Amino acid sequence: MKIRSIDDLDVRAKRVLLRVDINSPIDLTTGTIRDDNRLRKSLPTIRDLADAGARLVLIAHQGDTLDYHNLVSLEEHARLLGGMLGRSVGYIDDVAGPAARDAIGRLEPGGILLLDNLRFLTEEVSTFENAVKLTADEMTGTYLVRNLAPLFDAYVNDAFAAAHRNAPSMVAFQELLPTAGGRLLVAELDALSGVAENPDRPCVFVLGGLKISDAFSMMRKVLADGVADVVLTAGITGQVMLMAEGIILGEPSEAFIRDRSLEVFVEPAVEYLRNYRDKIRVPLDIAYDDGGRRVELSVAELPAPAPIIDIGTNTIGAYREILRSAATIFVNGPAGVYESEVGAEGTRELWSTIAAAAGHSVIGGGDTVASARRFVDLNDIGFVSTGGGALIRYLSGQPLPLLQAMEKAASDL
Ligand code: 3PG
Repeated sequence: MKIRSIDDLDVRAKRVLLRVDINSPIDLTTGTIRDDNRLRKSLPTIRDLADAGARLVLIAHQGDTLDYHNLVSLEEHARLLGGMLGRSVGYIDDVAGPAARDAIGRLEPGGILLLDNLRFLTEEVSTFENAVKLTADEMTGTYLVRNLAPLFDAYVNDAFAAAHRNAPSMVAFQELLPTAGGRLLVAELDALSGVAENPDRPCVFVLGGLKISDAFSMMRKVLADGVADVVLTAGITGQVMLMAEGIILGEPSEAFIRDRSLEVFVEPAVEYLRNYRDKIRVPLDIAYDDGGRRVELSVAELPAPAPIIDIGTNTIGAYREILRSAATIFVNGPAGVYESEVGAEGTRELWSTIAAAAGHSVIGGGDTVASARRFVDLNDIGFVSTGGGALIRYLSGQPLPLLQAMEKAASDL
């Protein structure tokens, strides 16, 4: 995909508006940031633009109306960014009103200012996006864009993790200002297009976890396009694949799946198995929790009397063999209930195999990265995406509003 890089912009003494995604998990009791990963990943673009003499203004969202307890100000984000950069990052508790505009006007070359949480503006929350559905052109008339665009010489987007959001801060400034993609956006697109377009072979997808709709939409796309040579299923995804093979898991696991209305995925699972049986691996054995004791059963020995919490030892061994000879590995979702000791073995063993494997690994999604961090050093993973929803949509072949806006901006040059 063709997007302009920040190296193509002359930013010296220019006012540059930089959209980052520093949306972070918030500790409910203290109200402070629990994980600063996205802040760290935003540093290269901020540093390079400020070093090049830009008057740099950062905009970002935090939380959402659907995630209300996370909808806090960006004051702590500014303080943490300043500490990581070793330079002052100003903060103003205003998004696009007179105080923000005044602070932007006073910024010196090399200065950095973070405006307040974009989602304090109605126009930026997902409930507005879903209900009102403005085009990018219509969004140039929103309060945010109308007030800020005239103050800037260029717009940079480095917010891959919000690429699925059709919000003014993500898609409308491109209509009005010279535009470039930041370092993180470019790195994310390189890594993910490397998986989705022309991966080194064999290319292995590990799809586990509880978010089965994500796993199924990716599975459909990567199997249909011939991107995945092998799909290893685990977690609830693996359990639904077993149900599609006519295996009775046992009432506790089936009730869990039914209560979350996940049995609707059995039908697509039957279809995938019919069309791609040679590429899909399903668990050979499972583990269940017998009052704090791990008990394993082969698939032939099912049903299990308690909820299934992990893949079993034979499955772990078979999956490890496949991962060791893979050239490309993509992972979304843990193999089991890794938070409990009895359910952790599959997740732990697969992560240690992936971290030691010769193949290039790409991972993403909050739960996936949290489970990897628990068992391995993330530096041993090839690429850790900051994307959650954006990553899933990208690999499922769904259009991303940010990428459409960036492509349009590049083609308008
Ligand atoms: C994310 O955390 O996935 C991004 O920051 C986007 O957040 P959102 O899902 O609240 O739009």
